Amino acid sequence: MAQLVTEWVNLTGDISIIARESGEVWFHTPSGTKNDLDPFATPMTGAGSPGSTIGLLDGALNLGFAEIEKRLARPDPTLTGYVVALVGAYHTSVDTPRNLRRAASRFKELGRHDVVAYLEERAREETGHDRLALKDLRALGVPAERLVANFIPEGIEPLCKRFDDLCAEDYPIGSIGYSYCLERIAALKQKTDIEKVEALCPDGVDATRFLRSHSSLGSEASHVEETIAFVASLQANDRIRVVQETYRSALIMAEGYNRELLKSEAEMLEELQHAIGEALPIVGSCFSKAEDPGTRPAL
Ligand SMILES: [Fe+2]
Ligand SMILES: [Fe+2]
Repeated sequence: MAQLVTEWVNLTGDISIIARESGEVWFHTPSGTKNDLDPFATPMTGAGSPGSTIGLLDGALNLGFAEIEKRLARPDPTLTGYVVALVGAYHTSVDTPRNLRRAASRFKELGRHDVVAYLEERAREETGHDRLALKDLRALGVPAERLVANFIPEGIEPLCKRFDDLCAEDYPIGSIGYSYCLERIAALKQKTDIEKVEALCPDGVDATRFLRSHSSLGSEASHVEETIAFVASLQANDRIRVVQETYRSALIMAEGYNRELLKSEAEMLEELQHAIGEALPIVGSCFSKAEDPGTRPAL
């Protein structure tokens, strides 16, 4: 019988993730074992498999978010919060195709045509997603171009910078870990999450194009599956770097989202109004609706 694949990656010095092809995943503390007896003390060198690679990637994501879990803000949803989320969505998607092509051209120089093909395909798939966010903002009556030109939510800025930096590296394999982090989180969103946002919007206004596309109902689920299969096919060193970057991106994302979610309605309104130089014009009578309690959409 063929042996099941086991993969492992050290994330923090004292925490490693071990994942098996069968789907088992566990966290391992190397310090608890004598090095010469610990088979996971040295980096893995073998082949991957989708079953174990997904365990590593999602384990890294969970660990990144776990550190903030107790401090996680869970505010009521408001339309103002959703407008801020759409501005964040715009900024995390506007440079994605250009960044992915930049990373692809570096891999072309390195002769890594497998990675080039993957990144170029992603760049094509992600093209135009920023426009979905702009259309949603416009549908709400917000001066979309002026708003995104003058405002980037402070919790989103470090995430955008991380992706810019990763794609400009000499060996930009970490960009795949970042993308996995964002797409996997988006793919967790369900129909009910979209319905909650629709309930906040004025009647007859369609302002969930970006959200629908970046949810389990849209293309994100297949992007995540394709990425898992691709990462599993990479050599061990690359898989290690992708998983480590998934963890770092998750830390940055968790901190940034939480910083935004901790803001009061008044603070958000002030930021938005400052950016457009006038009171926030939103179609219909949304502000009265916006005061209804419920679940505020994640950014
Ligand atoms: Fe996208
Ligand atoms: Fe995507």
